[in-house]
Amino acid sequence: MISIAVSSQKGGVGKTTVSINLAHAFARAGFRTLLVDADPQGSVGLSLTRQSRLLSGFYDYLADPGIPFERLLVPTRLDTFSLVASGQAGDYEVGGAPTGASLSRVRSFLRTVEARDFDICLIDTPAGLFGLTADVICSSDAVLVPQQAEPLGIRSVPKMLEGLNRLRVIHPGLAVLGVVLTMVQQNMEESRESVIALRNLLPEELLLRTLVPRDPLFVKASARGLPIGVMEEGTGALAVFDSLRSEIEAKLNITSKAAQVG
Ligand SMILES: Nc1ncnc2c1ncn2[C@@H]1O[C@H](COP(=O)(O)OP(=O)(O)OP(=O)(O)O)[C@@H](O)[C@H]1O
Ligand SMILES: [Mg+2]
Repeated sequence: MISIAVSSQKGGVGKTTVSINLAHAFARAGFRTLLVDADPQGSVGLSLTRQSRLLSGFYDYLADPGIPFERLLVPTRLDTFSLVASGQAGDYEVGGAPTGASLSRVRSFLRTVEARDFDICLIDTPAGLFGLTADVICSSDAVLVPQQAEPLGIRSVPKMLEGLNRLRVIHPGLAVLGVVLTMVQQNMEESRESVIALRNLLPEELLLRTLVPRDPLFVKASARGLPIGVMEEGTGALAVFDSLRSEIEAKLNITSKAAQVG
């Protein structure tokens, strides 16, 4: 199994949107995919059914690892795609807790996921590089960094990557997949320029080629808790996240089941 943390220093840059749609892309390609909502604000969880707010989830497992794992798993219409909501114990050691406080529990969570034969585990984290988010990154095989394509946001990227390098001291095996630009507006000069600026700023291997466009459909989809691709008008976005998935597959040296069969 490969675990991928989806993290950023800044909030509101598209982590949850990328997590949901990328997880959907992996699942469509035949990977047994688990999407974990590690954000106590519970955006992925919110986006599930109303009952899901009552489900036990990731933070309940951290608070009590004795909880049966089946109780956390939420199936979706795709049989290769399951979710774990953030759960009820949302205050668990978030904010202010020293890095490492929950490291061993996050690792044991991921070992349990692996034992369930998942191929990919994507973890949507809260913004920042401290506390629980740092624990998730230090427990994952790889980290993906969404960044909104706007001039001010771009400037914080090198700092974020420095922060990741510091975490690699604790977890040398961490693969930094790089930055994926989101909410790109090709018809807006500032947005286009920020894409170019980041290309100039980062080594090639740290910037993914796939650009996620700004599209109001993402807002609609996230209000309904759906991957954009399952919405009637959203099929165009399938290609975007398939492209992101292929780039990540290449970086991680894995091949989709679909490709193996077809
Ligand atoms: N490509 C996009 N096009 C248009 N709107 C988008 C896009 N990606 C995200 N959004 C919208 O921007 C807002 C923030 O996105 P999202 O929740 O994915 O960010 P986040 O990084 O997870 O935020 P937080 O740090 O609060 O968890 C949401 O309203 C979402 O619907
Ligand atoms: Mg989020």
